[in-house]
Amino acid sequence: MVDAFERWASAVAARRERAARAWQLRDELVIVPAGVPIPIAGTDQFHEFHAHPEHYYLGGVADPGGVLTFDPAEGWTYFHPVVTQEEAVWTGPGRRAEEYVARTGLAAVFPVTALAGWLERNRGRALALLGNDDIVRVPGAYRLPGWHEFELAVDGELTARLREVVDVLRRTKDAEELLRIRRAVAASIEGHRLAFRFARPGRTERQIQIEIEAEFFRHGGDRTAYGSIVGSGPNGATLHVSPSRRALEDGDLVLIDAGAEVEGYASDITRTFPAGRRFVGLQRELYQLVLQVQEWAIGAAGPGVDYRDLHLGASRRLAEGLLQVGILRGSLDGIVERDVQALFFPHGLGHLLGLATHDAGGCIPARARPDRPSLRYLRLDALLEPGFVITIEPGLYFIPALLDDPEVRRRFAAEVDWERVDALRGFGGIRIEDDVLITETGAEVLSATLPKDIETIEALRAEAFAG
Ligand code: GLY
Ligand code: MN
Repeated sequence: MVDAFERWASAVAARRERAARAWQLRDELVIVPAGVPIPIAGTDQFHEFHAHPEHYYLGGVADPGGVLTFDPAEGWTYFHPVVTQEEAVWTGPGRRAEEYVARTGLAAVFPVTALAGWLERNRGRALALLGNDDIVRVPGAYRLPGWHEFELAVDGELTARLREVVDVLRRTKDAEELLRIRRAVAASIEGHRLAFRFARPGRTERQIQIEIEAEFFRHGGDRTAYGSIVGSGPNGATLHVSPSRRALEDGDLVLIDAGAEVEGYASDITRTFPAGRRFVGLQRELYQLVLQVQEWAIGAAGPGVDYRDLHLGASRRLAEGLLQVGILRGSLDGIVERDVQALFFPHGLGHLLGLATHDAGGCIPARARPDRPSLRYLRLDALLEPGFVITIEPGLYFIPALLDDPEVRRRFAAEVDWERVDALRGFGGIRIEDDVLITETGAEVLSATLPKDIETIEALRAEAFAG
C-alpha cells in the first residue's frame, strides 16, 4: 500500500524533475533555503515561521533551517536542520534523518552541518539562490561559518530565470496539492457556516473572528491562510480590514474574508450578509449585482480563457449595474473607458491560490500591463489552464479614501451621482469570493457548498435568530 508520505514524496520528486528539466543548467548550482525564524525586535520571541514556498514546493518539507541544493552533475541534496541539545529542551527534538528521506523523497539527505563542505567543494561556481535568501545575511543560523568566504557568485539574472520557471510550474497544481487545497476549503466552509449562525447585532467583529477561526481549526485547519478580515457596516469598505471591537448593528452588512491553511496550502473565501435577518434597501440590489457578476465570471472561466478578459468583463458588468441603479451616469463605453467603476471596485477579480494566498506566477514579466486603475491590482494576468486554482471575487465598496478625494470628484463630476454616493456613506462593501479549479472542460467551484444566494442567506439568518 502506498502511504500518504510516499504519495507526497513522489509528487515532490516529480516537481523537482520538471523544474530541473526546464532549467537546463550546465554547471550552475541552485540552493533553496527554507528560511529561519525572524526575531521580534526587542523581545526574546520569534515571528511565526513560514518556510519559503519554493523550498516547500521542491523539497516537500517546511522546517526552519533546511536547505535544498541542486547540482546538474550530482542532482538534488537535502540538508536537514540540526537541533542542539538546548533547542531540543525548549522546542523539541526535531525529526530524524529517515523522516526527511521519507518526506523529501531524496536519498541524498545530510545534516545541515555538512552544507559548509558542499559549499567549500563548489567554491567559485555560479549559483542561483532560490528560496529564502536569508542564508546570505544569517549564515550562522544554517550552521555556516559565513557566506562570502565560499566565493560563490550569486547570479541575479539566473535566479530570476529559474524562479520564473518554478512560478510557472507552481500555477498548475498536482494531485497532492489539490488534496490539501480541498481540505483547506472544506475547513473554511465550516467556519463561514458558523459565522452565518453566530453573527448578530451586539456581537463584535472580533468575536466573529474567534468563532470562525476556531471552527477552521476544529475542521483540520493548521492556521489561517492570511489575517482574517471581518468588516461590519462602514468597516466593510476597507479591503483588508482587521476585525475590531465594533459591535454589529442591525442594518449593517458583514463582510467576512477568511480562509484556513492546511499543510501549507491556502483557501480564501468571502461572504457578505446582513447583520440582521434581511438585506435592506439598496443592499439587496447591489448584492444581487455583485453575485450576478461573480456567477458570470465563474461561468465564463475555463481552459484557454484569458483571466484579464474575465476581470474586464466583470468590471464592465459592474459598471452596467451601477448605471442601472443610477450611481453612475452616461454611456457604458465612456464609463469603462475612463475606469470610473474602479472607484467602487478597486481590486482585481482574483488571484492564484496555493502555497500562498496570492500564489506565485500570477503575473510573470512576459506580459506588460497598462498602468490603469482597473488593472493595477490584477494579481492574475494569464491564460487559464487545467489545474490552476484561482479565486473569483468581485466586490463593490463605498470607500471614503477614494470618494472624498476632491480630485476624483472633479474628474468624475459628470459620471458619478455624488449625491447618491454621499447618501451611501457608511454602506461599507460587498465581496463574494469562491475558490475555483480550472478543469479540462471548464471550472469546478471548490467552495460551491457555501451558500451565497439571497434566499438561502436570509433563511440561514432567520435560523440564526430562531436558535
Ligand atoms: N483574501 C484577501 C485577498 O485575496 O486579498
Ligand atoms: Mn482573495
